Amino acid sequence: SKNAFRNADGEVEIAGRTAASIVAEMGSPVYVIDEDDFRTRAREWRDAFAGWDVFYAGKSFLCTTVARWIAEEGLGLDVCSGGELAVALRGGMTPARIGMHGNNKSVDELRAGLSAGVGRIIVDSSHEITRLEQLCAELGTVAEVMIRVTTGVEAHTHEYIATAHEDQKFGFSINGGAALVAMVRSHHSPYIDLKGIHSHIGSQIFDTNGFEVAARRTLKLMAQFHEATGVTLADLDLGGGFGISYIKEDTPATPAELAAGLRLIVEHECRGFGLPVPRMSIEPGRAICGPPGTAIYTVGTVKTVDIGSGQSRRYVAVDGGMSDNIRPALYAAEYSATLANRAGEGGPVLSRVVGKHCEGGDILVRDEFLPDDVGPGDLIAVPAAGAYSRSMASNYNHVPRPPVVAVRDGHLSTLLRRETMDDLLALDPGA
Ligand code: LLP
Repeated sequence: SKNAFRNADGEVEIAGRTAASIVAEMGSPVYVIDEDDFRTRAREWRDAFAGWDVFYAGKSFLCTTVARWIAEEGLGLDVCSGGELAVALRGGMTPARIGMHGNNKSVDELRAGLSAGVGRIIVDSSHEITRLEQLCAELGTVAEVMIRVTTGVEAHTHEYIATAHEDQKFGFSINGGAALVAMVRSHHSPYIDLKGIHSHIGSQIFDTNGFEVAARRTLKLMAQFHEATGVTLADLDLGGGFGISYIKEDTPATPAELAAGLRLIVEHECRGFGLPVPRMSIEPGRAICGPPGTAIYTVGTVKTVDIGSGQSRRYVAVDGGMSDNIRPALYAAEYSATLANRAGEGGPVLSRVVGKHCEGGDILVRDEFLPDDVGPGDLIAVPAAGAYSRSMASNYNHVPRPPVVAVRDGHLSTLLRRETMDDLLALDPGA
């Protein structure tokens, strides 16, 4: 987080609280969110895209307080399940400012969205169009819809999180013609108010060229739709996926740089097609909630093993792992780690920070230099851990999920409390 640093005693401090004092109050492990940093980033995106709209992607991390922060900072909110929708509404998000995603929304989820009056439903399949029409007939309403398209852009990121190439489950293909067919069908439906189109090319992307190519291809599709129907669509959403710095080699563009590049291209293309510039929007998740988050763990055991050729490796095991951050195991995602409760003594030793789960792949940070004397009871902080950590957490090995706390001006507040054994046992009627 922007407000995290190492104080004169060598302790990690976040927004006026030392890591040790946070753990003393909240227990370990714990996810910490620097509230000012979160809000500042939300505002940075909003301001950089002024005149456009910004929808925070709730899948990256959502609870009612975060929904309130997002509403207070003037952003919209993207949800992709009935659960996220419920949290957004409980958090006081205006339904008209909610966008609803999902490649396989259930009838109940669609009904919940329509009944709440969400501002946009991003439609992903022909079956979904049919379901929406049936529901709108039943509820006597009209759905505000965007058509999710795949642009064929090859985003340079991990295969599991790239979403614009042809051979994957999301959206209607532009190349194959399915996108235009779905748009024309929606346009003619009495139950659908077709607002525009939506593209999301993938996640943790640093090469801004991918977004620019997506903008060109979606605007061309808008022009084709205009040719076919005479109608100019109002909205174009370019999705999220803006990369953040997990390790120092990662160098993301700033929101202002991204916005400037996209504005130029969108204006230029629209001039070329003789179309007005649509109401543009984007959906950053990670870029808002990732950097302000820090995961803090406690070291339990340390062991050094022989790895052959006279080499050894030190394993530093902490009290969490793949259940609170699946990203290293799932995407080979890289993080850094630092000793958080003191400066440490002795030279840096190449270490592997691992969890407590029953799997060899339960690694949080593959290679990190930590002081020689790291031992049981020490705290380890993993920065930039605010996105897709708690939101993808599991109860693997029946490990309760850690709490999420916000810190601001030295003051802690609980966003999500720690799960207890009773929470877990409550699901088991035999317990
Ligand atoms: N909009 C749509 C339609 C999306 O599918 C996503 C992410 C976003 C926005 C936000 O992307 P962001 O700006 O946060 O990168 N769990 C993975 C990434 C998969 C995200 C899927 N959709 C991870 O931990 O990296």
